[in-house]
Amino acid sequence: MRVLFVSSEIYPLTKTGGLADVSAALPAALAELGFDMRLVMPAYPQAIERAERLGRPIRLDGIPGTDEARIVPARTPDSGLPVWLIDCPALYRRLGGPYQDAQGRDWPDNALRFTALAHAAARLSDGDVDPGWRAEVVHANDWQTGLVPLLLMQRGARRPATLFTIHNMAFQGIFGAGLLPKLGVPMDSFSTDGIEFYGKMSFLKAGLRYSDHLTTVSPTYAREILTPEFGYGLEGLLQSRGKHITGILNGADYAVWDPVHDPHLPCQYSAQDMAGKRVCKARLQAELGLAVAADAPILAFLSRITHQKMADLVLDALPALLATGAQFVLLGDGEPELERRFDELGMAYPDQVAVRVGYEEALAHRVQAGADLLLHPSRFEPCGLVPIYALRYGTLPLVRSTGGLADIVTDATPQAIQTGRATGFTFSGLSTTDLVEAVHRALDMFRQPVAWRKLQRTAMVQDFGWAKPAIEYRRLYHELCGRPIPAEALPSPDPAIAAQINGTIGAG
Ligand code: ADP
Ligand code: GLC
Repeated sequence: MRVLFVSSEIYPLTKTGGLADVSAALPAALAELGFDMRLVMPAYPQAIERAERLGRPIRLDGIPGTDEARIVPARTPDSGLPVWLIDCPALYRRLGGPYQDAQGRDWPDNALRFTALAHAAARLSDGDVDPGWRAEVVHANDWQTGLVPLLLMQRGARRPATLFTIHNMAFQGIFGAGLLPKLGVPMDSFSTDGIEFYGKMSFLKAGLRYSDHLTTVSPTYAREILTPEFGYGLEGLLQSRGKHITGILNGADYAVWDPVHDPHLPCQYSAQDMAGKRVCKARLQAELGLAVAADAPILAFLSRITHQKMADLVLDALPALLATGAQFVLLGDGEPELERRFDELGMAYPDQVAVRVGYEEALAHRVQAGADLLLHPSRFEPCGLVPIYALRYGTLPLVRSTGGLADIVTDATPQAIQTGRATGFTFSGLSTTDLVEAVHRALDMFRQPVAWRKLQRTAMVQDFGWAKPAIEYRRLYHELCGRPIPAEALPSPDPAIAAQINGTIGAG
């Protein structure tokens, strides 16, 4: 089955967060299952530089938002999957991030930038560039690709099936309605039943409204977004699409995130042999200028420094946490005021606090390996890949029980410890005291090496690989196309089990 996967970032071509990791690893896992996967993303300068180019660029005329569009056929450097880079120099060739300039301001032409991406993706899915290849499913991701299902809907019966994955409802792509004539979408789509949202246009709403099916990146978040607290005014639309929303927990790409073979670490280690983790810790302390002390627990915060990730609460909690003798490491970037407060703290506690504001892929791996406890107290969290990775590195996640975090971490209650299921620490409140209490509970456990070791071992053997989620996406793709999964692709020749895996289609 031919699937076009559309995303605004794909690791290692361009990455600002978890979307890039998913857009690399999920298509690769689906290709393993036999899907003919092709990827589409904008040709940002770093993507052009990192992709393995194949053949000559192909001109694509008539793309709204730009005078010049070319398709650069390429492959991803890791998985070798075909990727079409959409090269519109006026829109994508600039220094800065994929959505913002170097000062953190949204690019003023984002509406046009992602309109062009959507049109190019729709044309590619239709065989416009490679007449031998027409998509059967188009899988779009987040607001940047929200117009894709709307554009395909217009094509009537010949169109491919569409799936739209919500990675974060907090980012919606809302733009002034005056731009509508420039988007190349029907004017009548600007209605409350279409892309209109409080007098403006919402690209996210277009994705939610016009795709055949929706997924989001954890089962708990799939339920939460139906409520006003997490739906941001779109909960009504989501409720109306209830039968067409599936929560599938993201996976981890253990080829990239596993201390057994992680090339970024000074020393590899495994659940069976943890000596290397002690080396990683000492080296991290030395690298970041902290006191090299094996018995001082390292608390790490490795996230965007934002309200979502409760960076403000971590800041408020830190004086109490540092009073216990713990060390604190931060790697992240985000809201300037919070960055400034972290920097100040780093200067106030030079041996105990290390603050690295910025984006450093290799250091992220070393922090995962060298830390003891990952502080991940989000106000909301669609999935949360960082704590999934932390588990594999034996760095116990301490999370707020929301969204995907609730699906990932099993709290170290006495019962969960006894039954060998505990993998970290959870709390549910929103106050600094709630966070401090949870960390104290974790630090008590840290001082009991045997119990801590048992938690680490359980955490490290959890399997959050992509194989299982990919099977769930396979089932959705087949349902959407009305095509049963071929018998040879199923693990069991038993027709009853095959029918179950095929769901409603198989049963028919
Ligand atoms: P989100 O997508 O909401 O930011 P996730 O936990 O799903 O959160 O994914 C974050 C990804 O970005 C992970 O791969 C993490 O390692 C990476 N990351 C976040 N901040 C940094 C940083 N400052 N430097 C390097 N990698 C980072
Ligand atoms: C978003 C979410 C994060 C999720 C990631 C990948 O950035 O904030 O929770 O893990 O997308 O789906």
